[in-house]
Parts: sequence; structure tokens; C-alpha cells
Amino acid sequence: MKKNIKAGIIGLGWPGKEHLKGYLACPGVELAAVCDWDEPLLKSVAAEYGIKKTYTDYKKMLEVEKLDAVSVCVPNYEHEELSIAALNAGTNVLCEKPPAMSAAEAEAMAQAAKKAGRVLMYALVMRFTPETRFAKDMIDAGDIGEIYLGKAGYTRRRGIPLGKDNWFVDNARSGGGAMIDIGVHALDCIWYLMGTPKPVSVSGVAYRKFEHCVPAGVKYDVDDASMALIKFANGASLFLEASWAWNLPGTATKLVAGTKGGIQIEPFRVFTEKKGVVLDETLGESSIPAGYGSAPSNPFAGEIAHFCDVLRGKTKLIATPEQGIQLMQMLRGVYESAETGREIRF
Ligand SMILES: NC(=O)c1ccc[n+]([C@@H]2O[C@H](COP(=O)([O-])OP(=O)(O)OC[C@H]3O[C@@H](n4cnc5c(N)ncnc54)[C@H](O)[C@@H]3O)[C@@H](O)[C@H]2O)c1
Repeated sequence: MKKNIKAGIIGLGWPGKEHLKGYLACPGVELAAVCDWDEPLLKSVAAEYGIKKTYTDYKKMLEVEKLDAVSVCVPNYEHEELSIAALNAGTNVLCEKPPAMSAAEAEAMAQAAKKAGRVLMYALVMRFTPETRFAKDMIDAGDIGEIYLGKAGYTRRRGIPLGKDNWFVDNARSGGGAMIDIGVHALDCIWYLMGTPKPVSVSGVAYRKFEHCVPAGVKYDVDDASMALIKFANGASLFLEASWAWNLPGTATKLVAGTKGGIQIEPFRVFTEKKGVVLDETLGESSIPAGYGSAPSNPFAGEIAHFCDVLRGKTKLIATPEQGIQLMQMLRGVYESAETGREIRF
């Protein structure tokens, strides 16, 4: 069991910097090195946060630093290659969402983790908000009963990300648009609260109508709005929507419906029935109390604290390689169903 964890980060975009702050806030962790192709960015981030070792070549960082833990915060098309390289180097991996570009890639990552005997955790950050953690505790305590319906949505009225070299909107490098990028957050949060039931079918639609919102000359071949109905082996089902741009409001729908109650995550509300009276409970304070469940309130700090606790053998991994494979089956299922016009069965 490791007391002190030597960590590093590959990719210093916005999420990479959130991981950086998470490691710095985590007791017993030494953030030894950071890596990015972009040297000016690398130097400025390292100087700002006092990180001594910097690398532009991740392979060299893994070889020289012999890290216990590395965050893989690079574009989607590199998740598989970099995670497997790190696992093969004996390093435990925290990989950003979406797990990969396909279920086959996620499967290869899971196999590499198993073969190396190292932890592969997916940075499914919505599981670590105070609201999700509180909801999960209520569900696990049986307060909501049997959950049979979920509704998950993450929509923006206008908000198409580009990323370095416009990779977000290039299907070959992102694996898809709104659904794989932000739909995954909403899907994962509700699927997790539903108890990660086994998906059996997906029926989906995907649209691309907002090319005019992307700079001229940028290749744009991904969905800007998608919807899906996912059915599970336990009879439950989940309605999912995602958009980067549409002529409707931006939303963050996260709802689970059970036989004894229902929960809305954002803003947090609980719907119950007591003595035949239908009740709607809202938070007494403005938020779930800071430090609820003794985890950090910041979800990135929470996911990194969880990753480090797993490495120290203090807790069981909650965002597993197997779940990464199933998430990719569902996300790819949405796209395949949209393309073929058929329900996809697993
Ligand atoms: N959890 C979240 O809320 C969240 C938010 C945004 C993005 N993400 C995910 O994080 C990942 C990165 O997204 P981003 O927004 O930071 O993209 P980005 O393009 O803004 O930044 C990626 C960074 O990684 C660097 N990089 C890429 N490949 C590299 C390599 N092989 N070696 C070294 N450096 C490399 C780039 O130079 C760049 O600085 C994506 O998978 C994305 O889906 C997660």
C-alpha cells in the first residue's frame, strides 16, 4: 500500500489544470511532473503552480519519473494509446471522459490494466459532485425504492468547443460531437445512480445543423444535437439528450424515478409521498454542506481523492474499466442507431 503517491499529468488544457489542482489539494501526493506538447503552455502552468519537472514527451516522463499515478487529459483519440502506454510502464491511470472513442478501445484499455495489474479509473466527474454523492447515499439506503426511469440531458443553446487544432469537431479525433462530449456526463451520472444496469438496446437520433457556428474552413462532421432511449436488462430505461447548439434552452437534466421517490440533481430536489401526501423536498441551505461524506466539494478534487484512496487500498474503485466499456457501447449505440435508423441491440 502506497502512503505517498508520485503523480503526473499529460495534457494541460482546462481539465488537465483541474486535475493539477486536485493533486495539489490531495494530502500525501507529490505532483512530480507535467507534460504537454505545447511548450509555452507547459512552462507557464509549471511556473504558476511550482511544478519542477516538465516534459513534452509523455513516454520520456513515464520512463524517467516512474510515476505511481498519471492523469491522461488529452484529446479523445489519444486516450487508448496513452493510457495503455502508462499502464505498461507500471503507472496507474486516471483517464478523462469519454472513456475512449469506441467500446473496442475501452476493452483494450481494460485488458491492459488487467495485464499490468494496475488501476484504470475513468474521470467521470459527475459522480463526485456533493449532489450526486448525497443522492447515491439516499438510493443505497433504499429511500427511493426501485429505480425504473432516468432522464439525463446536457444541452447548450450555443457552445461548440473546438480544442487545440479543432479536434472536438473532427469525428476522426473526437469520436462524435455533443453526445460523446457532454452527453456522456449526463448519461454517466444517471446510469451510475440507477446502479449501472446492463444496457440491452439503444435507439437514437443525431443532427448536425449548426455548421455556421464553427469558423469557416474548420472540418465539422459531428452531431450538434442528439437524443436516445436506452433500455436495460433489469427493465429500467433512460432518456438522454445532448446538444452543443440548438434553438432551445441550455439544460442540465438529471432525474431518477423510483417506486418510493424521485430525485432531481440540479437543482437538488427530492419527490416523495408520505402518508398518502405527495411531497416535494428542496434543500434547506443553498447547497449540500461542504465536505458532505468527508469528500472534497470540488468534484475534480473528489475524483482525484478517490483515485488516490483506491491506490492506497482504502476504498474500492467506483468508475471501473468495465463501466467504461459499457458507456462506450451506449454512446456508439446512439450514433449507430442514428446512422442506420434501427434500434441497436447488445
Ligand atoms: N471532465 C470535464 O469536465 C472535461 C472538460 C473538458 C474536456 N474534457 C476531456 O479532457 C480531454 C482533453 O480536453 P481539453 O479540453 O483539455 O482539450 P484541449 O485540446 O484544450 O487540450 C489538450 C491538451 O493536451 C495536449 N496534448 C495533446 N496530446 C498530447 C500528447 N500526446 N502529449 C502531450 N500533450 C498532449 C495539447 O497540447 C493540449 O494542451 C478530452 O478527452 C475531453 O473530452 C473533460
